[in-house]
Amino acid sequence: MTKSRVNPRYMEKLYTFYSPFYDYVFGKLLGPGRRRAFRYLSCRPHQKVLEIGIGPGSTLEFYPPKTTVVGIDISASMIEQARKKAARLNGSHFDLRVMDAAHLEFPDNHFDIVMAAYVITTVQDPYQVCREILRVTKPGGQIIAVNHTRSRNGSLMGRIEDLLAPVFVRIGFTTDLDVIRVMQDVGITLQQAVPCNLLNTGRIIMGSKPPGR
Ligand SMILES: C[S@@+](CC[C@H](N)C(=O)[O-])C[C@H]1O[C@@H](n2cnc3c(N)ncnc32)[C@H](O)[C@@H]1O
Repeated sequence: MTKSRVNPRYMEKLYTFYSPFYDYVFGKLLGPGRRRAFRYLSCRPHQKVLEIGIGPGSTLEFYPPKTTVVGIDISASMIEQARKKAARLNGSHFDLRVMDAAHLEFPDNHFDIVMAAYVITTVQDPYQVCREILRVTKPGGQIIAVNHTRSRNGSLMGRIEDLLAPVFVRIGFTTDLDVIRVMQDVGITLQQAVPCNLLNTGRIIMGSKPPGR
């Protein structure tokens, strides 16, 4: 499939509704994958990192202090929560903005690292979002997604994920999107995908922008 079944207005409203308690519910559920992903982040001092769909800032505490982190989210209410958290962490190196991941307001080749935790399955056009991620990443830069990704074609699990997709999209994400495939299709070089979270339902997907692209 090329486009997810997501209605962006619905998603924005839903995540705005979730924002005051997101961290207590989904934050904990999705925490192990998120924490583990940061072990693979090759962040050096003074590097620029972009995190798309940052939500209420569940990852902020994992960033090293000398990194410049720009976090964006479509929901103003999520960004408000993330700013409160950044203030508690004394995080002067966080720049948190309301923005659509499908239309990133940054120049080409701008960030050393782009992180996308549990967001690619919440957007209407995952191809467009992955193209934008690739565009703003510097050649050779690191791209990390933490996400559920649809099981392979022909598998029972893949069929179940297709059947469940219309239900789960009401809760806030699709289950029928092969995130790894989308990332590769747009030209992201895949290094590895490591299972994570309860029953290995998630993947830490590590990739990079090809040098010279
Ligand atoms: C499942 S939450 C993930 C939040 C956080 N990254 C985490 O690790 O838990 C998905 C987030 O993506 C945001 N989002 C959805 N569509 C977006 C878009 N087009 N652009 C930017 N953010 C978006 C939602 O508002 C929400 O905060």
